[in-house]
Amino acid sequence: NRHVISMKDFSREEIDHVLDTAEKLEPVARGEERSRLLDGKIVSLLFFEPSTRTRLSFEAATQRLGGQALNLGSVEASSVMKGENLADTIRVISKYADLIVLRHPLDGSARMAAEFASVPVINGGDGSVHHPTQTFLDLYTIRRESHLEGLKIAMAGDLKYGRTVHSLCHALSLYGAEMTFVSPPELRMPPEIVRDLKKQKIRVRETDSLEEIIGDVEVLYMTRVQRERFPDPEEYEKVKNRLKVTGDLLKAADPNLKILHPLPRVNEIAPEVDSTPHACYFEQAFYGVPIRMALLALAMGVIE
Ligand code: CP
Repeated sequence: NRHVISMKDFSREEIDHVLDTAEKLEPVARGEERSRLLDGKIVSLLFFEPSTRTRLSFEAATQRLGGQALNLGSVEASSVMKGENLADTIRVISKYADLIVLRHPLDGSARMAAEFASVPVINGGDGSVHHPTQTFLDLYTIRRESHLEGLKIAMAGDLKYGRTVHSLCHALSLYGAEMTFVSPPELRMPPEIVRDLKKQKIRVRETDSLEEIIGDVEVLYMTRVQRERFPDPEEYEKVKNRLKVTGDLLKAADPNLKILHPLPRVNEIAPEVDSTPHACYFEQAFYGVPIRMALLALAMGVIE
């Protein structure tokens, strides 16, 4: 089975192949061309955490390729509520579907699911460490809207709990990016990730000020403070609104600066930014469709 669990399982060549495949499928994702690549295939969407983009873009990707999505719906309506464990759930869903997309709150659950599944498993985000399909679409967006090789990027916001930035900085290290991490001191990038990057000779800088770095970067990747992952709600209240991109801040930006955000946003990007040429986050959400089409087709082996 070809699972998609962590970006660490992919070489740069394999990542480039996924991005190239997504590019070929983009007209299908836009509804401009038709495809029956997943004709007769069933994709099960097993989401144990809320999601709008990941769940619906996987569903759109499946349907655009002529397949069918089998949605668990809410966890509350499933037998998980009777105490069924993840291993048994995965064993059973493997009998109904040709591939499983899993989102789960616990670190390592996608890897564990892959051990019990008899069909490919794609990690739709587990715990606070991995969200590989988001990283693929982030890389695709950066390649389309800017460039990947030697990119000067700042990642800002909740770098402690944000799984998207953890997956992304590993992948970007394969392309020799220069990385600046912007966060309140309480939400810094985990030290082991910074250590790993430095070991790979990646230039890393850390600060708590967007003003200090806004003129020096080509991509600004904003993230939401992950309220649901804070053990103490008071700690969330202290840090929730510390970093914000506004029209004023962008006066000092490079004219070609691109702003990405995995979404959902809360307050970290002001609405006036949406109409500037810097804003890429809604197009980025669209790119989730061709990327997930490519990952579904490659994982099920219907294309090479
Ligand atoms: N970016 C992202 O994973 O969004 P959802 O939580 O809505 O899927």
